[in-house]
Amino acid sequence: MSQLIVLGVQWGDEGKGKIIDFLTEFTNIVVRFQGGGNAGHTLIVDGKKTVLHLMPSGILHNKVVSLIANGVVTDLKLLSEEINNLSQNNIKVTKDNFQISYNTHLILPYHKLIDKYREERRNNKIGTTQKGIGPAYEDKVARRGIRFQDFLNKERFDKLLKRNIDYYNFQFEYYFGKDKINYNDIVAESDFLREFFAEYGKDTTLTLHNATLKGENILLEGAQGTLLDIDHGTYPYVTSSNTTSGGGIIGTGHATYSQTSVLGVFKAYTTRVGEGPFPTELHDEIGELIAKNGHEVGATTGRARRVGWLDLVALKYAIRINGLTSLAITKLDVLSGLDKIKVAVAYKYEGENLNSFTNNIEILNKVEPIYQSYDAWDNSLPLDSIRVYEDLPENAKKFIKALESMLEIPIEIVSVGPDRRETIVINNPFR
Ligand code: GDP
Ligand code: IMO
Ligand code: MG
Repeated sequence: MSQLIVLGVQWGDEGKGKIIDFLTEFTNIVVRFQGGGNAGHTLIVDGKKTVLHLMPSGILHNKVVSLIANGVVTDLKLLSEEINNLSQNNIKVTKDNFQISYNTHLILPYHKLIDKYREERRNNKIGTTQKGIGPAYEDKVARRGIRFQDFLNKERFDKLLKRNIDYYNFQFEYYFGKDKINYNDIVAESDFLREFFAEYGKDTTLTLHNATLKGENILLEGAQGTLLDIDHGTYPYVTSSNTTSGGGIIGTGHATYSQTSVLGVFKAYTTRVGEGPFPTELHDEIGELIAKNGHEVGATTGRARRVGWLDLVALKYAIRINGLTSLAITKLDVLSGLDKIKVAVAYKYEGENLNSFTNNIEILNKVEPIYQSYDAWDNSLPLDSIRVYEDLPENAKKFIKALESMLEIPIEIVSVGPDRRETIVINNPFR
């Protein structure tokens, strides 16, 4: 048995979905451990595109069991749309291949509304996805949340819902000056969703434990990225969950430390959506070119992603905070044809070199990256046609080797295109 945590090590959208879909061939279970509908994971298989928000990225493989674990905040309406969409594309989601933890907390309509109203009101906007993530995690921590097990019991749910709607309506009316929401409408929608989801409820900690006893492999799927972690990210410009590897243990209740490896997924450059510091951000035509070649538009919100060079100061921090055992680099193909590729190796702050990352936003907003340049490779050989590491252009191999030597952990996977098959495995992390 081996357990692999796969997570993003920048500000999200590293291509985790693609890598997880690729690696699902080698596992029995894929379990999503945090976040909610804020995530957008794009999978492309033989040219056919699927975008997932809540469904684990292993769902396209039949025979693999997908789990939504306790650490996720689940919007059942969004999830039902995703399931219907998959079913129209011949991907059947049944109780045999999909389970939802009894302990996952629900995102309800008032969470999405308050997320939106708060963003409208803030002077320093966070740029949330307005999917109700922060408010749902707040309710969980305040012990006011409604879990999937509460939802399955109509009497209990209706009572808890009434209490929470009174609480939120007070704020809508008196603090935000907005319309109140209607209890009966949400009860009616929930009755419908209860029937839809009745068969999926499970104690997913037991599913994981039993799989381990049978010697099966497990893949823990992270959403967002390390620098969006509520504790270790660029607070307050973060999401409201632990996106780092520790979140994988809490968010699943499956603590098999000795058999666990942690694979960090990073882009060959950096992107960020929403507000917050971004030391290597580009505001020039090279940035525009990378954004264009990389199609850097958010899968959840449709917002343009900010683009910058790869930041090794941030990446070394992510390696340390997550205890990464190896890396996957994505979108290497996007850098083809550039003249030079730059990589930040340190920051300068007030005349001094800073060699380690900081969560101090004021400092991070002022640091100047110190760059090392690498020669790129030309467009004559499309990278997305390459399947073996040795066939990559010499300069691409030099670039990868230089990164490995500075980061001091192996790069095991190189992604050269968005399609599942456009992947080079140097070493399979499910060893
Ligand atoms: P995630 O949130 O980490 O799963 O990443 P997203 O799916 O939001 O964004 C990554 C985008 O890059 C998607 O459109 C993918 O189809 C695409 N992608 C992933 N890997 C590669 C790659 O190696 N090359 C190129 N060109 N596109 C990629
Ligand atoms: P995936 O899984 C990129 C960002 C938002 C915002 C901040 C807080 O596709 O990588 P939230 O709605 O979570 O309260 O927003 O976090 N954000 C993401 N950025 N990819 C994501 O997910 C993100 N999920 C949240 O843009 O800056
Ligand atoms: Mg994404």
